[in-house]
Amino acid sequence: MKIAFLGCGQVGGALADHLQRLGYDVTIAARDAKSDSVRKLLERNPASKVDEPHKAVSDAEVVFLATPFHAVEAALGPLADELSGKIIVDCTNPVGPGLKHGLDSADSGTRRIAALVPKSRIVKAFTIYGFENFEDNSFPGYDIKPAMLFCGDDADAKKVVSELIAALGWEPVDIGGLDQALHLEHMTLLWIRMVRVHGHSPRLVWAALQG
Ligand SMILES: NC(=O)c1ccc[n+]([C@@H]2O[C@H](COP(=O)([O-])OP(=O)(O)OC[C@H]3O[C@@H](n4cnc5c(N)ncnc54)[C@H](OP(=O)(O)O)[C@@H]3O)[C@@H](O)[C@H]2O)c1
Repeated sequence: MKIAFLGCGQVGGALADHLQRLGYDVTIAARDAKSDSVRKLLERNPASKVDEPHKAVSDAEVVFLATPFHAVEAALGPLADELSGKIIVDCTNPVGPGLKHGLDSADSGTRRIAALVPKSRIVKAFTIYGFENFEDNSFPGYDIKPAMLFCGDDADAKKVVSELIAALGWEPVDIGGLDQALHLEHMTLLWIRMVRVHGHSPRLVWAALQG
């Protein structure tokens, strides 16, 4: 499967690296092939492929969006045609000053993104933990996989993303449609406050025990 990444920093770099090592055909859609994030990814995994965004996105079946939330319009706008019909995995979080929701909880960042690319199929995933857990999601000593909650309105797109989540070593937990994205974004704020403010381990993840 061909996968493109818009953004290859802490989150995108870790996921792109991991997927490439699993055998997926991953290309970084780089606005600047010499940027720090691209350089660090190539240092980490010299087999990483980098191409200009239009080409990388046209060739891909799935596009991971892992830019800062404030950059999503600039990143997606010029690619709207190429993104038509494609699956976008929204890894972004709108985090505002004081670690509050960046859109004042009036709407989710994901629904704003969906409005920018209405012909794309959006699935929100890989947002509720820090990047440390995308670099390493093994938890020796626990006989259970960490849970990755995801949501989206397109069942086929969710099936594809669920398989990617499982391949990356997570328990995929489908929490419903895009109307759930706002709640995932609040869950992210909970995690950020627990870890970055209150001193819990950055390797804190949730597990889903379902009777
Ligand atoms: N950090 C975390 O622990 C974490 C966890 C879960 C989700 N998230 C979310 O994931 C997203 C990325 O976070 P991060 O920590 O990975 O950020 P980061 O390390 O700053 O990386 C941002 C990436 O986005 C690229 N980028 C910035 N502006 C762009 C634009 N206009 N067009 C195309 N690419 C652009 C950057 O490219 P250049 O190198 O060219 O600048 C870089 O590759 C954010 O929305 C964040 O809220 C973060």
